[in-house]
Order: sequence, then C-alpha cells, then structure tokens
Amino acid sequence: MPRRVWEDPQTLSQNKRSPASSLTFVSGSSRTSLGGTWRFHFSPTVSGRAEPPFGTDGWTEIEVPSHWELQGFGTPIYSNVVYPHPKDPPRIGDKNPVGTYRRTFACDRKEAGRYFLRFDGVESFFFLFLNGSEVGFSKDSKTPAEFEVTDLVRQGENDLVVQVFKWCDGSYLEDQDFWRLAGIFRDVWLIERPSAFVRDVFAQTDYDYISGAGSLKIDVETEGGEDVEAWIVGPNGDEIWRGAVSNRIDVGGVSPWTAETPTLYDLFVRTGNDCVSTKIGFRKIEWKGGVFKINGRPVKLRGVNRHEFDDHRGRAVTEAGMQRDIELFKENNINCVRTSHYPNCERWYELCDEHGIYVVDEANIESHGMGYGDESLGHDTDWQDAHLDRVRNMVERDKNHPCVVMWSLGNEAGPGVNFKACADWIRARDPSRPVHYERYNEVADVESCMYPSVDRLLGEGVAPATPHSKPFFMCEYAHAMGTAMGNLKEYWQVVEDHPRMMGGCIWEWVDHGLRQDLPDGSWRWAYGGDFGDEQNDGYFCCDGIVRPDRSISTKLLELKQVYRRVMSEHLAEGKVRVHNMHDFEPLQQCIIEWTVTDDGEVVQRGSETMLAIESGASADILLPVDPASTNAGERFLNLSFVHDGQERCFDQFPLGGKVRKTKAGQIQFSVDDDGLLAGIGGALAASPRVGIFRALTDNDKWMADALREAGLNWPLKRRAIKVKRIDDERIVQVLVENLTESGIGVKETTTYEDTDEGLKVTCVLEPIGDLPPIPRVGLDFELVSDLARVQWYGLGPHESYPDRKSSVRFGLWAKSVDELFEPQIAPQDCGNLEEVRWISFCSPSGNGIRIDFERPLSAKVLRYDAFQMHEATHLHDLPQSDHIWVSIDAFVMGLGGGSCGPPPLEKYQQIDWPLNFTITVASVGKSARI
Ligand code: GAL
Ligand code: MG
Repeated sequence: MPRRVWEDPQTLSQNKRSPASSLTFVSGSSRTSLGGTWRFHFSPTVSGRAEPPFGTDGWTEIEVPSHWELQGFGTPIYSNVVYPHPKDPPRIGDKNPVGTYRRTFACDRKEAGRYFLRFDGVESFFFLFLNGSEVGFSKDSKTPAEFEVTDLVRQGENDLVVQVFKWCDGSYLEDQDFWRLAGIFRDVWLIERPSAFVRDVFAQTDYDYISGAGSLKIDVETEGGEDVEAWIVGPNGDEIWRGAVSNRIDVGGVSPWTAETPTLYDLFVRTGNDCVSTKIGFRKIEWKGGVFKINGRPVKLRGVNRHEFDDHRGRAVTEAGMQRDIELFKENNINCVRTSHYPNCERWYELCDEHGIYVVDEANIESHGMGYGDESLGHDTDWQDAHLDRVRNMVERDKNHPCVVMWSLGNEAGPGVNFKACADWIRARDPSRPVHYERYNEVADVESCMYPSVDRLLGEGVAPATPHSKPFFMCEYAHAMGTAMGNLKEYWQVVEDHPRMMGGCIWEWVDHGLRQDLPDGSWRWAYGGDFGDEQNDGYFCCDGIVRPDRSISTKLLELKQVYRRVMSEHLAEGKVRVHNMHDFEPLQQCIIEWTVTDDGEVVQRGSETMLAIESGASADILLPVDPASTNAGERFLNLSFVHDGQERCFDQFPLGGKVRKTKAGQIQFSVDDDGLLAGIGGALAASPRVGIFRALTDNDKWMADALREAGLNWPLKRRAIKVKRIDDERIVQVLVENLTESGIGVKETTTYEDTDEGLKVTCVLEPIGDLPPIPRVGLDFELVSDLARVQWYGLGPHESYPDRKSSVRFGLWAKSVDELFEPQIAPQDCGNLEEVRWISFCSPSGNGIRIDFERPLSAKVLRYDAFQMHEATHLHDLPQSDHIWVSIDAFVMGLGGGSCGPPPLEKYQQIDWPLNFTITVASVGKSARI
C-alpha cells in the first residue's frame, strides 16, 4: 500500500513550485484557461475512487470551476467548529469523497518553451496526472498550486487527470465556520513561458509623506534570465523610472495609494523575451506607539468580514459577484475587508487595489475543532511546516498588492510555537505590514479581539499609551445574524474618540444561504441540515449584513450611516458646519441637497455644491432656510450629502414646532363585558390585548431561556377584573390582568373614551410579579386585510429599533404591509418603527383608520403574528395570512449583538414602569367610514 500522503502533515506537496507573486504576462508568456466541461467520476469513499489508467466508461461530466456538491455529487455540509470528519489527526479515514476529473487539451509545443499547470484553488487535496504520469500533489486549498510539465506535455492533444480528495490532513487546518464544499473551485491554467522568464517579483514600496516622494526596493527572481530591466509607468501613462532592480530606487514625487485615493502605478519587469507587470502603490504603514497610520495619518478601518460566497456557486465566485461586492462596499462607506478566513481569489485583490479597499489578508489556517489547549495544532511542531507553508503561500502570492495593509496568521487555531514561527517568518520577509492574529496577540503587532462589549472597548481606548502599545482592532464585532447590529453607533463613538482604536470588521458580509430547489418547483435559501447534512450547525451560517443574493438590507443602510465620512452640525438659522472626516480625500464636488419638512411635508428645498474641504477640516455653509411660519407643525432641516449622484450620508436637525393633530372624525366602537374593544368601524379583526412577546431575533437568544421558563413565550391569558361604564358608555374603564400560568404578567388599566377627535385610549401598564427581561410591552391587535396601505409620521422609511436608528429619519412615510416586512432567512421579529407620532391604515379606496400617539411610540405592522413567525424555520414556511398584525409599544428591547456577543446595552434594556400612553383612533377617508 503506497503511503497515504493525504494523511501526513509533513508532506505538504510534491513537485509543486514554490509560491510566487501574482503577475500579469505582458509579452513572451501566455496562459490558457482549462475551465469548462470535464469528465468526472465521483466516489463517496477513498477506496471506491477511480484508479489509473482512469478509463472514463460510465463517467459523467462536471463544470470547472465549481464545487461538486453543488453539481449533484455528495452533500454540502455546514459545520462551524466540529470537524465533519473523524477527529483523529492527521487521519481522515475512508469516508472521504473523491472526485476524479479528466479532460484533454491541445498544445502547440514550442521547442524552447516551458510549460506549467496552475490551479488557483482546489479543495482540499489533489493528485495531478498528465499523459499517464503522476506529476505531483498539493494541499492548502486557497492558494495556487503550480507544477512544471515541460517534460510531459506533448504537441497536439494532452490528457489531464486531477484527483481531488474532499478531506486531507490539511482539513484539520481548514476548519472554518462555513459550508464544507470540495472540488476544483477556482480556475485552472496551462501556462507557457519562454526559456528565460521572470518567476517572482517583490516590489516593496515606501512613501515619504513629508516630502511626497516614493521609493521602492525591487527583488526579482528569474529562471534562465540574466539581465533584468524594470520600469514604472504612472497613472497618466508616463514612464517615471527605468533601470536595474536594486534595494533602493527613488522615483521622486508620486501620488500615494490609500483606499480613498487608490492611485496605482504599473511596474514592468523584463528578462530576455519575457515581460511581466504588476500594479504597485506607494504608501507607508506605521503602527508603533499604538496608533495605526497610513501615510502619516491615523486611519480607522470601517470593515467587514467577507467569506467568498455565491448562493448558487458557493466559493466558486464570479467576476460579476466580486464587482458587485466592491460596488456595495464603496457605496456604503466600507473601507476595509478581512478575507475571513483564507486568501481569496486573486482577482479580489486587484479590485481592492483599483477601487480602494484596505485588506486584512488572512492565511488559510483554522483548527478550531482542536480547541485552544494542549491539543491545539499550534503547539505541535509536527504541524509547523504546514502552518508556515500556508502563511508563505499567502504572503508570496499577495505581497505586491498595495491594498493589503495587514497580514493575519489565521483564525481560531489556538496559540503556540507554530504561530510564533509564522510571525517571525513574515517579519523577516515583509516588515512593511503589521501582523495580526487574534488567538495569540503576543506574537502579533496589533491587539485583536472578537465581539467586545462597548465597555470593554472603552477600557482599551482609555488605557494610557506606551511606546509598546499596540493598536486595538476588532477582527470581528457586531454579529449581523438576523435582525441585528444594535448599538453600532456606540461602538463607533468609542472608535472615533480614541486614537488606539483602529476600527474593526463586522461579522459578516453575506448570509451563506445556498439556493435550494424544492420539489414543488419553488426554492429557498438553505442552511445547515437542509441537505440532510447530519453534522451541522443549522442557521448559524446566515449571519450576514446582506442576503445571499446581495439584496440590500436595513443592516447595510445602518452600517452606511455609521461608517459615514461627512458630519455636520446645525449652528443656527440655516448655518451648517460640515466636517470632512476622510483621512485623505478632499471633499470635492459634494452636493448638499436640503429640505425643510413640516410634519413630513417638504415646504422648502435646495441644493448647494460644497467647496472642497481638506480631509480632517470643516467649513460653514449658509442655507437660505426660511424662518418658521406661525402655524407650522414639527419642522426639520434635512441634509443629504450626495457624491457621484448617490447619497453617502445624511443629517436631520429639529427646527421646533409640534406635530399637528388629525382632523379625522369620530368612530363607532363598543367594549364587551370582558373589556375587549370591538367595532371601530369594522377595521378590527381581533381586539387589542397586551403583548410582550416578539418572534425572537437571533440576538434575543440571551433572554430566550428565561422567557420560556417563565411561560412568557406564549400569549398571556386575560382576566378582566373590572369593566366600568361611565356617562352612558361614553367612557369605559377596564382593569385586566394578563398572566402566564405561573401568575406573572402585566396589569392593564385602560380607559376608552368617545371624543370628537375619535376614540381615545389611555393605557397604564404595570408588572405583576418578577418579570425577566422581556422583548416589548404594548398592545397587539389585528386589522382586516384590506387596510394594507400604511402611512406614518415618525422614523423611516425602514425598520428601526431603540439601539439601531442611525439610518432612519423623521418623515411622512407610506408603504404597503408587505413592504414593511424585512425578511430574514429564518423568520424573526422585524419591521419595528421607532418614534412614531401617528400611523394610518387604509384600503385601496382610501378609507381606514388613523391612530395618533400623544407621545412617540413604537409600531409594527406585519402580515404574520409573532408566534407564527417564531415557529417558522424558513421564510418559505410562513403561512399565507389573511389579517394584518399591528403592535403599538411603549417599550421595545434593543437588538444588541447577543447571537454571538453582548446583549443590548443596559440603557436599551431598561423598562420605566409603569408605562403610560394615550392614543386616539379616528376614521379617515372620503366617507370618513370604513
Ligand atoms: C467567530 C469566528 C467566525 C464565525 C463567528 C460566528 O468566532 O471567527 O468564523 O464562526 O465566530 O459567526
Ligand atoms: Mg471557528
């Protein structure tokens, strides 16, 4: 039996070329993609795999690049920490799916040419055969594997076989929290090079931010080349330097690279007939004394963690998909991405260079399933080469990208000597960038943490700086699972206020819901367990800011406003001070579009082009705002900062005044002997009752157990204590206890009063017994489904929660009930509206009811009731409903980050009992009747 090389951590590859930088072939060399349709044999076990000579009778076909599980072979498995294979390092066992790929390709062989096969990404281990001979093998699924095949490649047709194993010893280091998907998932290339060629280029650029001069050190490795010539072409096409490569090349004044000013230069390197190029940028990164700086200025990283993910294709991402992510980053004020948790497809870094995104580049190392104790592979020197290899593969490939501002040794792989070795290796190879590794900050240049509380962050922020202080980074924070991202604003207040804070990356960019077709012809976004994967972590892979198809969520809008780069203050009477918070970019051609609203109606509007404001500076601008008119309602000055035709952020300043009351008319109602309201002109489908439950969000899990134990995850039972009718039933007073089986709950004293303005309802709510933290307190009722046109005056136009309302503004908003639903892949509470002054519900003919609130309250209008939503596991499971569920709340719990991190801040949990509120229900519409 030959050695099982896929179960041996000391044998990392065979005949694989040592790693080198990504280079563009300019002349002399060429490459041809071998992507397309290949013959394919699939075996669920190693023992059943195809054997040489790989006769293809009975084989099927597969697309390359792709994951075989998404092409109908084997099962996608979603696992977070637990290894989906036996945990017995370095062994994997026989239950290890093997896919064998075969295709032919034509080659017009040149006598002196050298030939290579390059695999950009194969998960997780493969053997390569060409024309019947074994060429070699490779591990580390996320960096290129290149093999020389000059001696094997033939003129005319060639026969290529790639045998891929889903698991190998390397899988112990690839235990990332994601879908476990195998196969040739990135491109495959046939490369032809001349006899002398440039193998590797390392351009270490520097920028003197005092003088504005650029310099660089260029190392070139050739094969067979003797003379090497290099030259640099600037952004306007002019050559700025040409000469021999050396340790110090001064190129004079340059435009530096930053994420805000992503100026790129082309470095060309030639030896013999071979000419290659790479993009470079001039910049300097500093991190001494605890402050992270680029080109001499402190920079905050407004980041996200991004897994490569496409809902149809898994990690086999497309150019269009990457472009879309970059576009969304730029439009939404994101300036940084952590390539969680492995080196991404090379094209991603080119896009980040070009468009300006800071990259925290992470090596493909995560051994979470081994824990962080003695068992951790970080301690075991038998695994040291495997760790080093992965770090080297990343650094060598990506070292020339200006976008890479920090190297990360990996994620959740424990501490240990192996990481010390990796950090030392990087420092020797590339001292220009800091090293990051959250599990062993001792060997890193920055102090990194995951999911801190705002208080912890503050503690780190105020710690006195020393010459040895390290900048503080949140490699993951604000876990974006479900209806989430509470108190983002508070995190950023601390980041902005403290020099040591370098910002952080929200976990995570996109929900990993895989598109799954269902037998009835419909489809859903599937998560762990939906494919019959037994070892799975359920819904935990759906924790992104945007949905799997990148449709924009309210979380993205919140992030956009908190990650804003322009701030303003209203000084007085239309005089506005604008702060340019960019680190480098002068605020040029920024347009302020402004309005004055009166109870939400626009009464004045204008638009001003700002003069350029230097980064970090401010300027005042006078807007011709009219003084308030005497009959005004509630007035606001609204500013929208528009850049390149898009709003980047906004501000809203109160100008005074009070909301005008409705002129709507009286309403018919009755109250029964149980104290239940009926009537209101036929609008009600179910009477108002006290409600404290919401379909728990993923973040609510910190309170879920206590709620269940107290029986509060179920509608409360009403017990009418007293119903008192006064003044010929013009006033009805009701006292009700709303209780769980165990006798805790809410006491409700409600007064219904018939007035000229409508039905006035005054409610006083008090706790009965010792209540655990509860999601909300208010009234729930149902309306007939016809009243689906909703209008409100309050915060909008999208959902908000007490700790997540940076992205909403006061206004008069109109939506249908369906539009108020902010779907999550697993249904949960959503659509809450904060600080509502009034809300109306109308039928298509314009008749309905309006409810005015004496003080601002929260409101929620959905097609589903909280309990239905709580039960449903997929969006797809929600029943077709025939009513409209409305909640009007005097208390709503904040969202916080409890799905993986801290619960809501104290101040967003606080209920100020007793809760008092008054609302007036009136009929509106042409007939003033429903
Ligand atoms: C972190 C981990 C991520 C992800 C996240 C939870 O601890 O680094 O990979 O698992 O938790 O969604
Ligand atoms: Mg993990």
